[in-house]
Amino acid sequence: MADSKKYGMNTRALHTNKRFESLSGDVMPPIHLSTTYLNDIPGESDYFYGRLNNPSRELFERTLASLEGIENYEDQHAFAMASGMSAVSIIAELAKPGDNVVITKDVYGGTTNYFSKIIRERGVEVNFCDFSDHEALEKLLNEKTKLAWIESPSNPSMNLYDLQKISEIVHKNKTFLVADCTFSTPFITRAFEHGVDIIMHSTTKYIGGHSDTLGGAVVCKDSELHEELMLYQRQGGAVMSPFDSYLVQRGLYTLGPRIKLHSENAHKLAEYLDNSEFIKEVRYPGLENYQNHEIAVKQMDYFGGMLSFYLHESINQEKFWKSLDLYKLAVSLGGVESLIELPYLMTHDKAQGTEASAPIDLIRISVGLENIEDLIEDMDSALNESKK
Ligand SMILES: Cc1ncc(COP(=O)(O)O)c(C=O)c1O
Repeated sequence: MADSKKYGMNTRALHTNKRFESLSGDVMPPIHLSTTYLNDIPGESDYFYGRLNNPSRELFERTLASLEGIENYEDQHAFAMASGMSAVSIIAELAKPGDNVVITKDVYGGTTNYFSKIIRERGVEVNFCDFSDHEALEKLLNEKTKLAWIESPSNPSMNLYDLQKISEIVHKNKTFLVADCTFSTPFITRAFEHGVDIIMHSTTKYIGGHSDTLGGAVVCKDSELHEELMLYQRQGGAVMSPFDSYLVQRGLYTLGPRIKLHSENAHKLAEYLDNSEFIKEVRYPGLENYQNHEIAVKQMDYFGGMLSFYLHESINQEKFWKSLDLYKLAVSLGGVESLIELPYLMTHDKAQGTEASAPIDLIRISVGLENIEDLIEDMDSALNESKK
């Protein structure tokens, strides 16, 4: 294809340029399993060794970078990693002993745990802070602040921060603003457009989209930073496998339409919950009464498939889980099927008792692609059956 850059998001997801065309003319790219490649002369070949580069991984890395708005994605591709946490870990490599990092309080429990245990032990100061309190954030920033870390929206409280404002605050120092955009994907928020320097994803979620592949990805705008992250990816070695690369590339083909339907379903479910006498509070960016709705309108193309809420005291929580049929009680998110979980006891259990603990009674739903009437009816009957 001549110039895939000029096309819209869905077209680019399908037609971003590969580096070479298949000899057999495959319409869909094959999975390249070889771990080593022929050299024309010693040390000279386009592909060299599977950990350093692989055509299946590279195609995904190019397509994702293109979707995030990187014009020269041929040179400045994304980095596909073995998991979302290995994506977190190569970004964290940027902070050296004596540096400090600032993280929003409500992030994924694994990220909290990684920074508060592993990164602190390396001699990096780690501070958690509510990024909506701009004064508190500014007080923590200084010339030693390497990273400011945000989730957009946050897991599990669905908080949204004004990325543009935060980037202006953070960039008064030479700090990189990192956004974990696992919940949004580039089909909802292209964080570079709002001043973010490094974007990361757990591709295990919406990008893979079918709860059958583990992976992560990092994208950055700056070419020097790209070189440094490439070193950590390739020499650290936690790269995405060819098969997972194939699955996430396939995930990108349908990501746009899936995000649209996830968002439509989640919005309708959020409206139902918001009107229910059995629910105390619903946290969904698309609701007009949601505290960050204005920010959502500014930086989200869709409001996404994730929501969280608090049950009313009149509901027996255990009975409620057990009465649900279509929502499976399980961690993870972003798959075609609806999942429900209690973050305090499940995804965020390691953060219990820390400053980044999840609220004890918050419930999170990843709204799937089932018929929304069925999802609402299942929710309605479970709530009615679990009155105390
Ligand atoms: C927002 C967010 N970031 C990162 C991760 C970690 O990703 P993975 O489980 O693929 O390592 C998760 C996992 O749930 C997540 O929800």
